[in-house]
Amino acid sequence: HLLSLCLSLQDIERTAQKLLSKPAWIYYSSAADSLGALENNASDWRKITLRPRLMRNVRRTDTSRTALGCKLRFPFFISPAARAGLAHEDGELCLARGAARKGIGYCVSSVASFPHADISRAFYGELKNSRGSGIGDHGALWFQLYVANEKMVTLERIEAAKRGGYKALVITIDSPVVGKREEDERYRVEVNAESLPNSFAGGSQEPPLSPPSDGADDEGDGPLPLRGVHSSTFNWNDLGWIREAWQNSGPIALKGIQTAEDAMLAATHGIDAIYLSNHGGRQCDDTPSSIHTLLEIRRFYPKLIEDRKMEIFLDGGVRRGADIVKALCLGATACALGRPFMYSVAMGDDGVLKAIQLLSDEIETTMRLIGATRLGQLNNSFVNTKRLELE
Ligand code: FNR
Repeated sequence: HLLSLCLSLQDIERTAQKLLSKPAWIYYSSAADSLGALENNASDWRKITLRPRLMRNVRRTDTSRTALGCKLRFPFFISPAARAGLAHEDGELCLARGAARKGIGYCVSSVASFPHADISRAFYGELKNSRGSGIGDHGALWFQLYVANEKMVTLERIEAAKRGGYKALVITIDSPVVGKREEDERYRVEVNAESLPNSFAGGSQEPPLSPPSDGADDEGDGPLPLRGVHSSTFNWNDLGWIREAWQNSGPIALKGIQTAEDAMLAATHGIDAIYLSNHGGRQCDDTPSSIHTLLEIRRFYPKLIEDRKMEIFLDGGVRRGADIVKALCLGATACALGRPFMYSVAMGDDGVLKAIQLLSDEIETTMRLIGATRLGQLNNSFVNTKRLELE
């Protein structure tokens, strides 16, 4: 019933805010410092206008696309976001089943609330069920890798990805440390203050109770504080041993690229795909939106886009099918969404399916309205980027 009133991803967000626990809402919605990067993500899509071409037959559309070697029914996937279990007891399982059922992609976080084997079983189980409906051969399960301080932890994650049949390794490169998310911090302080004894008489040496979630950290709230903490030494030379461990089990993407220079470096290192992202504004503040970074790459290294050797993904602030169409017009392979899917999990499997349905309907409608019937037809003649380029 709640879901039937959700006509957009914004509606899903508003509904989720009412359903989620306070720590879950804060953890999902927070962003770094003064929220500059978050605001860029929210506002930049609107600065690109569409240029509809009319009087074309647009009755039939085909929105399918291959990404990282997998067929997707629609050019978008679920961004890796830690701890979907805060939203629903089935957490990541809802996302896995939804992606398989609808034939889209799901990039699972290193820091999931369920073992990666369980998530993979949920995904491939649902994919099998969907065979026959013609959807079963579409859909993708990828693994997002955080390189940890301890090499063993990273190697264990890569092994889990291989064992679970994850078809690509998406290495997050924007997190040598965790960003400063003040809402998480404030909540922790509040919870600690409430758990303090009313009086210090008696001089208890007990430290204040831990809050229910170590919200500022994408690395779970386990009792082992050092285990899994991001590596701050991770650099281009480490790609060698990571590749060796991955043993060509699928393509490799770098997530978190924010400049044309790093896009170029990824290409010279033979990376299969770049994933432009400022981590949903949760890491470095005042960074460009991914669509802004795409324009920068188009300007300084147009060949990276024309050659089509590296696939290009984008996330951050994508909230409408039209946003995805704009990115594709400018050379992106596919887009991804983080928070909207986390919010949809608050409404379980139905919430996830609804979010995917809303977006895919919007993509088809936008394509028809601008006069395109296949993704291959999308090019920069359908967009005006002047307003964003002037900034
Ligand atoms: C994230 N993100 C993220 N990225 C990643 O590579 N590994 C992770 O574990 C997480 N965890 C995480 C948790 C939460 C709650 C959020 C909101 C985000 C970043 C994520 O992959 C993506 O880049 C952003 O969420 C995209 O922005 P939008 O769609 O949320 O605006």
